[in-house]
Amino acid sequence: AGLKPDPADLLCWYDRHRRRLPWRALPGETPDPYRVWLSEIMLQQTTVAAVAPYFARFLERFPGVEALAEAPSEAVMGAWAGLGYYSRARNLHACAKAVVERHGGRFPASEEALRALPGIGDYTAAAVAAIAFQIPAAPVDGNIERVMSRVFTVEEALPKAKPVIKGHVAGLVPPDRPGDFAQALMDLGATICTPKRPACALCPWMTPCRARAEGLQETFPRKAPK
Ligand code: ADE
Repeated sequence: AGLKPDPADLLCWYDRHRRRLPWRALPGETPDPYRVWLSEIMLQQTTVAAVAPYFARFLERFPGVEALAEAPSEAVMGAWAGLGYYSRARNLHACAKAVVERHGGRFPASEEALRALPGIGDYTAAAVAAIAFQIPAAPVDGNIERVMSRVFTVEEALPKAKPVIKGHVAGLVPPDRPGDFAQALMDLGATICTPKRPACALCPWMTPCRARAEGLQETFPRKAPK
């Protein structure tokens, strides 16, 4: 206890226990930025289980960013139907067109240029930069918020906690595996460091976790008083 969490311990756990998800490249494969981007947009307000069949169908109909850009909007909205939050689909189509028009059909390899595209906010820019381009970016989603708020006993409630957490993630990102690190945090939050009754005994960061050391893991992330 009291040690700094070691990214290598988390990556070692990830190499054994990573979830096999349809948008993830196999170890050793180069990730496809189009697939990474598409999955991150679909996953924004939708669970992994609900996204999986849509993701596969979408890729069959629109195998790359140019096919998506050229498709009529009715076809895009039709392939999205059922996923909800339809502004995501409209932005998705606009983003595909912008990638073709502004960047010659290739997703730009910087957080800033990604952030300038329709429908891409701070989280998605950082996630795509890290996962597709191995840029040492620090995406923070709900799972990562929970993990980091526990490991570092972040006392601020959201939204104040967000920049604090982002700083903790940025301070740990291993330069050689930023995409795996981000997804390892997501998987840890989804499978071990769950909101209720986290499985601390199975956690690669049990020893350095400050909340766990005090038996307070379920009390993080802190809630703002109503
Ligand atoms: N949720 C959002 N992005 C994800 C990813 N790349 N893997 C697993 N869950 C996610």
